Amino acid sequence: MTAASLLGLDRLLVMLVAGLWGAAAGYTLAARGTPRLSRGAAALVIAALAATVARAVVAVLLARHSWWFAGEKLLLVLPLLLVPAMLAAARSIRSPVQAWPVLSAAYAAVAGLVVALGVGFPASPYVVAVIVAAWAAGTLATWFMLAGKGPRGRAWRVAGSAVLAVALAWTGLSLWNTRPPDDLVLAARGNIDVSTLRGTAAGPVKRFTLTAGQTAEGRLTFNGTSPGPTLRVTRGDTVEVSLRNELPDRGVTLHWHGYHVPNGEDGVPGLTQDAVTKGGTFVYRFPASQTGTYWYHTHETPNLALQRGLFGAFIVDQAPPQGVDEPVFLHTFDGAVTLPAGRTVEPGSAVRLRVINTDNGPHLLGLSGTPYRIAAVDGIGVNGRELTGERAQLAAGGRYDLTFTMPEGPVLLTADSASFPLTPRAGDRLPGPAAGELIDITQYGERTAQGPARFDRDYTWVLDKLITPRGGLPRLSHTVNGQVWPRIPAAIVREGEWVRFTVVNRSGDLHPMHPHGHHVLVLSRNGVRAAPIWMDSFDVAPGEVWEVALQAGNPGLWLAHCHELKHAAEGMTLHFAYEGVRSPYAVGDTHGNHPE
Ligand code: C2O
Ligand code: CU
Repeated sequence: MTAASLLGLDRLLVMLVAGLWGAAAGYTLAARGTPRLSRGAAALVIAALAATVARAVVAVLLARHSWWFAGEKLLLVLPLLLVPAMLAAARSIRSPVQAWPVLSAAYAAVAGLVVALGVGFPASPYVVAVIVAAWAAGTLATWFMLAGKGPRGRAWRVAGSAVLAVALAWTGLSLWNTRPPDDLVLAARGNIDVSTLRGTAAGPVKRFTLTAGQTAEGRLTFNGTSPGPTLRVTRGDTVEVSLRNELPDRGVTLHWHGYHVPNGEDGVPGLTQDAVTKGGTFVYRFPASQTGTYWYHTHETPNLALQRGLFGAFIVDQAPPQGVDEPVFLHTFDGAVTLPAGRTVEPGSAVRLRVINTDNGPHLLGLSGTPYRIAAVDGIGVNGRELTGERAQLAAGGRYDLTFTMPEGPVLLTADSASFPLTPRAGDRLPGPAAGELIDITQYGERTAQGPARFDRDYTWVLDKLITPRGGLPRLSHTVNGQVWPRIPAAIVREGEWVRFTVVNRSGDLHPMHPHGHHVLVLSRNGVRAAPIWMDSFDVAPGEVWEVALQAGNPGLWLAHCHELKHAAEGMTLHFAYEGVRSPYAVGDTHGNHPE
């Protein structure tokens, strides 16, 4: 069974286990002291036991995929449940019926539900202690009460109310601590200020101005269009972009997705700059030292503003482009993916379609009518085999450069059900959409890139969906290691290090992960060695484990987040920090900085 289906099964079982033990507890409580349990009640205990065993089996199977799928189940939840469960089985069928072991098992089952819904993995020692203590206290209190030894009357009520008051105060305080920050400095200490990590002019300077505005229909634009103008330069140039904000009601920044800009040019409000407010300007300047297909977008409330149009292409050429060479955006406006209506292309011309997925989710790309290659992934060239009819999934934020020589007949690019015909003459009959196999991008290309022999640091990011305090209320959130933005601890790195990140998806959602300012070398996916391949946006599907390597060569404070920007806004945003770098900026409403 796949890890994803085991995770789904476990989600069902955890509820079943809690429900069955709860019901069994009710029945045994009613039958306590009688010679024996009724048939129905005994069946409930047996069913609860069976569900518990099933959950244990699923946990062991999950652990064989990755420890990170099952750690808390095998170390905490199941041991807590198995002991009272076995006692329950032994004691409740004995005469007279004893109820406390079944109640204890029910408490453990509920603890398991709480862990599954709200804690995830890794659980902090503090949370583990609270859970074990609550279960033990519940079991003890039950035992005393059922044995008729409990404190009576006033003392009992006072103690009970005191416990309740402490629990309520603690819950209230924890929630209060998670209210949206007004003014939160993410990295207050360090000798290097991000505002000094700026680019300088070297080589020919290419100047652009991008003005954020809004159309009458509410689309957000740069220089009046969405996508905004394509910024195209040659390697070795210095790029200088003046951002102006003419939006009535929101701040704007420019983030250079995938580009290794100096940190102060990264456009993350509250981390690398303050969002540009109405009438304001910010000048970005950086060397165009990488070639390839990149894109820019605002990073102030990106889930709203990027989706409404604040993005464009950024292309760096090695040499003047040949033939047809242009960006193709995959962006959903008004419920439909916008692809150009069609284009005529002279047979024999070289074609490079720079497909950029600016959407929140993946697109399935196909090309029919000609063999083609994926010549670059996320801006970096790959040397892959020729594809005929095969399709490839492009992650949100990711780019594939598709190259081919225009044949005598028409060619059809498809993204899910949208299509873009390229025809030698208008009116030519189009080929059917590509319907071939789905290629695995981590296996595409030659094994040329090399990871290091050893890593200086190792981090694990466990992605999950949990009910967790966010913005002052318990909400369903997309979590990393059980936490949400801005409380996910930063991964610390040092310049020159090789850092390995293991990204584990325990949730039922796809997460296109994107670290800023760096590409990562994909080492393996689900334990299968990758080509390897450099990427800056990679789809971690439910039940998947990706190992990626990051070479720390660009000092600063860098955001990393899910590029399904709804998920990013619902918690799945964090940052990684080079030692010794501080930020003078703050996230929150006071400064209007909302990078998530
Ligand atoms: Cu396109 Cu923070 O990302
Ligand atoms: Cu996500």
